[in-house]
Amino acid sequence: MMDITARDRLKFLAGGASLLLFGCGSGGGSSAPAPVPPTTGTGGGQKPLGFTPGLLRDTYQGNFKIGAALSNNRTLPPDASAKLMLDQCNLLTPEWELKPENVSPSQGVYNFVEADRVVDWALDNGFEVRGHTLLWHESVPAYMLQGTRDEIRTKLENYITTVMQHFSGRITSWDVVNEVVSVDLYSGTAGVGPDRDTAWFQAVGSADYIDWALQAARNADPNALLFLSDYETENPQKRGWLLDILRRLADRGIPIDGVGHQCHLQLDTDPQEVLNAIDDVANEFPNLINHITELDVNMYQDLGSCWESQTGCQTDIGPNPPDNLLADQARLLRTIFDGLKQRPSVEMVNFWGVKDDDSWLNSVPVERYNYPLLFDRNGDPKPAYFAITDPNYVI
Ligand code: XIL
Repeated sequence: MMDITARDRLKFLAGGASLLLFGCGSGGGSSAPAPVPPTTGTGGGQKPLGFTPGLLRDTYQGNFKIGAALSNNRTLPPDASAKLMLDQCNLLTPEWELKPENVSPSQGVYNFVEADRVVDWALDNGFEVRGHTLLWHESVPAYMLQGTRDEIRTKLENYITTVMQHFSGRITSWDVVNEVVSVDLYSGTAGVGPDRDTAWFQAVGSADYIDWALQAARNADPNALLFLSDYETENPQKRGWLLDILRRLADRGIPIDGVGHQCHLQLDTDPQEVLNAIDDVANEFPNLINHITELDVNMYQDLGSCWESQTGCQTDIGPNPPDNLLADQARLLRTIFDGLKQRPSVEMVNFWGVKDDDSWLNSVPVERYNYPLLFDRNGDPKPAYFAITDPNYVI
């Protein structure tokens, strides 16, 4: 599909361009108008539930938290995305403020101003907060990867300890390590086994940094839940490597509380494979929690070349998404949410955006209109929203 290295470059480049936000917000009530579902989707003569404050989080109250990422620029004062947060969710993930290069751009320097602002806004509004992320091969400050193995370990442990102690009692779960599973899905190379051959792996000479990070996190805040998060866990081959890493962690007695399934999906994603990812983790590791950490449904199914070199990309579908694609998205998410509700190990679903125009996918891998989320550019609910909140809504 895509050369992950190219994707890394793309996401890095897109970093400045795409300001992502979303958010679904927690307890705060809202006066948001209650748009009525499209008349074509209200089959069965049932009065549509429509869009009412709290409907999304209340629908899953007994199953899992509903959240999304939010950036500071959306909070003071709350913009349309933030207001949707306050209406519809109960969990928040800072989209970039907790990434290492933003918190500690140079050794010994820690800047918590931005992160504190968004975390405190969330807590003041009754949200639970997820920390994303303590270790990633992107947004990693250069100093962290310089020096001997032992020096790198010490810097990593110091970073994690400093950050987690700063947020202790405020952030309840962390993506301790992000995107550490092999991506040799399409290259056919042997790679480095189940692990991803990232700058971390190369600097340390092994995947021991995963162990170091998780252990340091447990020591820093024993009350926080610790996650390993990755994308394409719905791919059986990548999932196999994920399970290999989990087995290794278990064999070594390394602490971990759960798996984050990013779930950056496409319209042709097999929903059963998403559910299989949950089941495979839960069946072999019944002590682990499953979180869906970055849910969105891409309108495009691009060739790898699009992600690697921005060539062969599907044509921009423009400012008016076809109804059939919106319906496909709605069906996919209804099937997935119906399945997630049946799986008690799932304790959180976090969307990677609320309004379509907030999404990173409007600039990655190329600049074009995308519609990956529950709300359109006007902030109105889409068929996908009604599909997962109203069982009587006919797609
Ligand atoms: C993305 C953000 O949404 C972009 O705005 C930023 O430019 C790059 O990072 N997987 C992850 C997230 O773990 O941190 C990424 O978020 C999307 C892919």
